[in-house]
Amino acid sequence: MAVRFGLEGRVALVTGGGQNTGLGIGSTLAAYGAAVVVNDVMSERAEAGAAAIREEGGSAIAMPFDITDYDAVLSGVRAAEQEVGPIDILVNNAGLPIGGQMLPFLDSKPAAWRPYIDINIFGSLNMMHVVLPGMVERGWGRIVQISSGSGSVASRGLGGSMYGAGKAGIEGAVRHIATEVGPRGVTVNTLALGLMEKLRETIAAGDSPVIDAIWQGNVMGHLGTGEDVGAACLWLCSAAGEFVTGQTIHLNGGSFPGR
Ligand SMILES: NC(=O)c1ccc[n+]([C@@H]2O[C@H](COP(=O)([O-])OP(=O)(O)OC[C@H]3O[C@@H](n4cnc5c(N)ncnc54)[C@H](O)[C@@H]3O)[C@@H](O)[C@H]2O)c1
Repeated sequence: MAVRFGLEGRVALVTGGGQNTGLGIGSTLAAYGAAVVVNDVMSERAEAGAAAIREEGGSAIAMPFDITDYDAVLSGVRAAEQEVGPIDILVNNAGLPIGGQMLPFLDSKPAAWRPYIDINIFGSLNMMHVVLPGMVERGWGRIVQISSGSGSVASRGLGGSMYGAGKAGIEGAVRHIATEVGPRGVTVNTLALGLMEKLRETIAAGDSPVIDAIWQGNVMGHLGTGEDVGAACLWLCSAAGEFVTGQTIHLNGGSFPGR
């Protein structure tokens, strides 16, 4: 039997989809036939991301809202559904708070903890809570949670305690939510990413020993791209991925932070 990777007729919403990883995901899903809703808290990024996908020949609309605000999520998702139809695929990609700073835990203040938890846990839960009832009712849906190796292992010197807490927390929720919705035709999985090319470009070699160490641990000799993540999303979100749920899959060029 032919394995089916096409997404024709599906509607996919990608949070934080205006740039970098999220844009690579949206662009890949659109290339395989999905109509893509590009969400971003920065409206100009959402618009630019949707325009970039359309320039490539894909179908995309921009839907800016803040995923940490439940009411904004509800009205943003409903507005998108009015325009392009029910959400079949959700990629919870937004996970780096605007202006968030990684700090050693002992140097941090409580106010600095919340953004990582808000975006990764509450933001992702808000999105899932709003789109899942429709998926369950229609008997088909796909959710991909974007996480990081930081949810599984620590990197000395990264200052990633709250980032890791947010990622590990949502990975735990994903596993349990998958058991609730699997029998209704919905899969929920996590992709835990290693260091991505775009981030490495912004941090020069030698400026961050921890980033250099992660890079040196990469056995493939190149860092991740949005398209690499998009390809994994395509597999999980197509008919080909229907036997996979509740999993955390590491996409990191063979490297693992802290190893
Ligand atoms: N860059 C890396 O090396 C790396 C490594 C591992 C995991 N990740 C994960 O991959 C995902 C994407 O990372 P990236 O490097 O492309 O990030 P990025 O910051 O370049 O892009 C994320 C987008 O999310 C948007 N955003 C921020 N807060 C939002 C909110 N509250 N609501 C809606 N949108 C919001 C931003 O405006 C931005 O456009 C994140 O979950 C990140 O944790 C990235």
